[in-house]
Amino acid sequence: MTDSKKTRRITVPQFSEMKASAAGSSGRKISMLTAYDYAMAQLVDEAGVEGILVGDSMSMVVQGHENTLPVTLDEMIYHAEMVGRAVNHALVVVDMPFPSYHLGAHKAIENAGRILKETRCQAVKLEGGAAQAETIAALVSAGIPVMAHVGLRPQSVHQLGGYRVQRDESALLHDARAAAEAGAFAVVLECVPSSIAKSITEKVPIPTIGIGAGPDCDGQVLVLNDVLGLGSDYVPRFVKAYADLKTEVTNAARRFRDEVRDGTFPASEHEYE
Ligand code: KIV
Repeated sequence: MTDSKKTRRITVPQFSEMKASAAGSSGRKISMLTAYDYAMAQLVDEAGVEGILVGDSMSMVVQGHENTLPVTLDEMIYHAEMVGRAVNHALVVVDMPFPSYHLGAHKAIENAGRILKETRCQAVKLEGGAAQAETIAALVSAGIPVMAHVGLRPQSVHQLGGYRVQRDESALLHDARAAAEAGAFAVVLECVPSSIAKSITEKVPIPTIGIGAGPDCDGQVLVLNDVLGLGSDYVPRFVKAYADLKTEVTNAARRFRDEVRDGTFPASEHEYE
C-alpha cells in the first residue's frame, strides 16, 4: 500500500474499539459529521472528528428534495468520491440509498461493492436492524463493513407516518442486537428517548452513534449543514448550530452585489497591469 492517506485513516476495527474507551467516565466519545463534497470534507477532517458520513441527507440538504428517497446510488457515489479524496484522518462511511440494498443480498453486495471500489470510502451504512440482518451478514461476509441505523429510519418515512421519536424499547433493542449479531461494526440510533438509548448502549457490544438519542450513546452524529446553521427553517430539537453561515453567506453575497453595483469591486489590487 503506497497511498499514505489510506494508512493514516481511522480503520473500522479502531472505530469499533472506541466503544470501550467511551464506556468509562473519562472515555472519549466518538464524533461524526456528514460531508458531501471535497472542500467541506477536508475542513471537517482537519477538525479531527473520528467519522465522516456521506449521508443520504444529501438528498434534502444538497439536492433540495423533501426527503431522502430520491437520491440515487450514482449520485451518492459521485459525492462519496469527492469526500473520499479529501479525507486523511476520519473513517468515511457512505449511506446506501433507498432501495439499493432491498433487492436481495446479491444486489446489495454489488451496490455496496461499487461504493467501496469507486470512492476510497471504507464502509457503508444502511437503515434497519432485524429486517436487514441477512443483508448485513451477506455484506460483512463479502468484506464490506456495515454501520446499521435503527430508530427513526428516514427512508421509511411513509411507513412510519412522519419523522417521529421511536419509543418501542424492545423493538429498538431487538434491532440493535440483530445488527450487531449480523456483524455491523456500529449502529446509529436516531430519535430515540435518552433512557432507551442508554440501555441499548449498555447492552450491545458495538458503538452506538446517537442523533436525537441523548448523551449516553458512545458517539454523536449530526448533519453538517445543521451544525453550520445552513439548515432549513425547521430545526429539530436535537440539532445544535455551532455557526450561523446562512447569515454569513447572505451578507457576503449582498456586500459583493453592492460593491459591484457601486463600482468599489474590483479595486486596483484586483486588476492586472
Ligand atoms: O443521512 C444522514 O445524514 C444520516 C444521519 C442523520 C445519521 O443518516
